[in-house]
Amino acid sequence: MANLPKQVKIVEVGPRDGLQNEKESVPAEIKTELVNRLSGAGFRNIEAAAFVSPKWVPQMATSADVMAAIVRRPGTIYSALTPNMQGFDAALAARADEVVIFGSASEAFSQKNINCSIAESIARFEGVAQAAKQHGLRLRGSISCAFGCPYQGDVAPESVADVVRRMRDLGCDEIDIADTIGVATARQTQTVMERAAREFQIDALAGHFHDTYGQALANIYASLEVGISIYHSSVAGLGGCPYAKGATGNIATEDVLYLMQGLGIETGIDLDIVVDAGQFISQFLGRKSASRAGNALAAKRTS
Ligand code: HMG
Ligand code: MG
Repeated sequence: MANLPKQVKIVEVGPRDGLQNEKESVPAEIKTELVNRLSGAGFRNIEAAAFVSPKWVPQMATSADVMAAIVRRPGTIYSALTPNMQGFDAALAARADEVVIFGSASEAFSQKNINCSIAESIARFEGVAQAAKQHGLRLRGSISCAFGCPYQGDVAPESVADVVRRMRDLGCDEIDIADTIGVATARQTQTVMERAAREFQIDALAGHFHDTYGQALANIYASLEVGISIYHSSVAGLGGCPYAKGATGNIATEDVLYLMQGLGIETGIDLDIVVDAGQFISQFLGRKSASRAGNALAAKRTS
């Protein structure tokens, strides 16, 4: 068996990526409770907020309320999306530990998601990156549509490498390579990750996989094989992107934790508490959790 990492960092993105696409407004109290339950499970990094235009993504309009109400677990990084200086100022005021600039490897998606070209987005991010450094905040770069785009189709690994380089030059501490629409397969994942790792240190590269085609766990395993040790996932498999029609949620955190447990890879996270958090938010949303492992473990408890 390939030499897999002995431990990985799981970034819980459910409260942001997971909930941003929900049609019905989820009250700030519910989001706060979800974040608190997740920090109680031991996550070292939770994506809790997005300071974006409420006209574009109404569900994230309560981000400041959530950031103000959560109980901060010492050592946990609470991240917020910040597409521009307006977003940065709001994230700073909300005491985010990490700000996330989010670009795309696809020109077409960049226009739809953030209303500008890739080059324009990088220019906008410069101010955010400088301000983050100045205020001692961590900076993450997120690269959407790294494996395929709902508008332009194929995306070349070279386009991903180009944005990784630009994000690196902006001073990102961490960069995630995102399969926004969940179309990647295992070999392709390895090709893109290996290409990205030629531009940025591999231990600060993350895999952000959506599960639209049911390939996300396979892609995580494929990424482990090439040495990626940071993964994004969403409790109960919540999610979808408002600018990627038909894309389903991120890979469910419970499923990733179950995989890691089986592989003997340390995460520092209590799966039982995550299962509870997944049942909590699914009950609130009035639907069954999308996590196979989460549902199986919850059913086992009641049988
Ligand atoms: P724009 O319309 O080009 O911006 O949007 P603008 O600068 O022309 O401003 C227009 C209006 O927006 C103004 O308000 C601004 O104040 C307001 P008005 O004067 O009309 O009342 N505005 C803001 N309000 C709050 N917070 C801000 C902000 N900035 C401007 N930060 C913008 C450009 C980027 C703001 C817009 O396109 C936007 O907010 N897009 C949101 C995109 C988004 O959140 N997408 C989902 C997250 S990305 C994702 O999910 C992918 C990821 O998970 C990885 C993956 O899977 O790929 C990360
Ligand atoms: Mg996403």
